[in-house]
Amino acid sequence: MTAADRASRPVHVWWARLADAHPGLVGLLDPVEIGRYETTVDHDNRRRFLAGCAVSRVVLGELLGLPPADVPLRRVCPRCGGPHGKVTLDVPAGGAHPDVRFSVSHSGDVIGLAVCHGADVGLDVEDGTGTDVEKVAPRVLTDRELAALHARPPAERTAAFLRYWTRKESALKAVGVGLRVPLRRLEVSDPELPPAVLSWPEQMESRHEVRMADTVVGATHPASVSVTGTAEVTLVRHDTSAMLRTWR
Ligand SMILES: CC(C)(COP(=O)(O)OP(=O)(O)OC[C@H]1O[C@@H](n2cnc3c(N)ncnc32)[C@H](O)[C@@H]1OP(=O)(O)O)[C@@H](O)C(=O)NCCC(=O)NCCS
Repeated sequence: MTAADRASRPVHVWWARLADAHPGLVGLLDPVEIGRYETTVDHDNRRRFLAGCAVSRVVLGELLGLPPADVPLRRVCPRCGGPHGKVTLDVPAGGAHPDVRFSVSHSGDVIGLAVCHGADVGLDVEDGTGTDVEKVAPRVLTDRELAALHARPPAERTAAFLRYWTRKESALKAVGVGLRVPLRRLEVSDPELPPAVLSWPEQMESRHEVRMADTVVGATHPASVSVTGTAEVTLVRHDTSAMLRTWR
């Protein structure tokens, strides 16, 4: 392990609210994003997508020294070519731009962007309102996690379940596979223990190494951040609401 690996890795997480999305932000989007925005039928999903694009463009533009609308975000699914999947920055590797990696997540009232340098990052935030834990948990948790969940008092189960979930999804987003692999094959530590992946699904390469940190947004939305490598993760929180609401 190198000294750099032992060091703490700061991850900046920029939070916005659903109410921050407004039509004035559409001018920041590129044609691919406008296409997705216009074809997203659900009103709140459309606004969450808009806010995620806007936060990404403003924050990354600041880091790259580019106007937000000029940030070269690439939204091309490696499997089908569609305008979805892990978003990347279309800048030449090894060029003058800093090695910025990022991850977006939206759920309920909250939209987040996690940014770090030199390692892949995955962010997941979940709105637990209305989650039918007894129904969903068997599809998300390993047998051991499920037994640990059921050993808890019922009143604690939703919060515990959501914590397993955000840890798992952030890890799968950091390594870029998303939910193509079943969550119930990925084992993470129990909610009250330091966040960690305990074992990866057998169909994935086992060489993945990630570190994690947990947080909660507005007391209602648990979130986790995973970063590839072995450096401990330190979260630095930012609020983008004022900036988005006044953007014209
Ligand atoms: C990644 C994924 C887990 C996110 O699910 P979610 O909980 O609904 O959504 P979140 O808000 O937390 O995250 C969405 C963001 O994750 C990112 N993302 C999408 N796919 C990703 C992937 N494979 N790896 C990492 N990040 C991904 C995008 O930035 C996306 O934001 P956008 O919708 O604004 O473009 C889910 O979209 C997924 O598993 N996708 C893979 C499924 C797949 O490969 N389908 C094949 C289509 S051909």
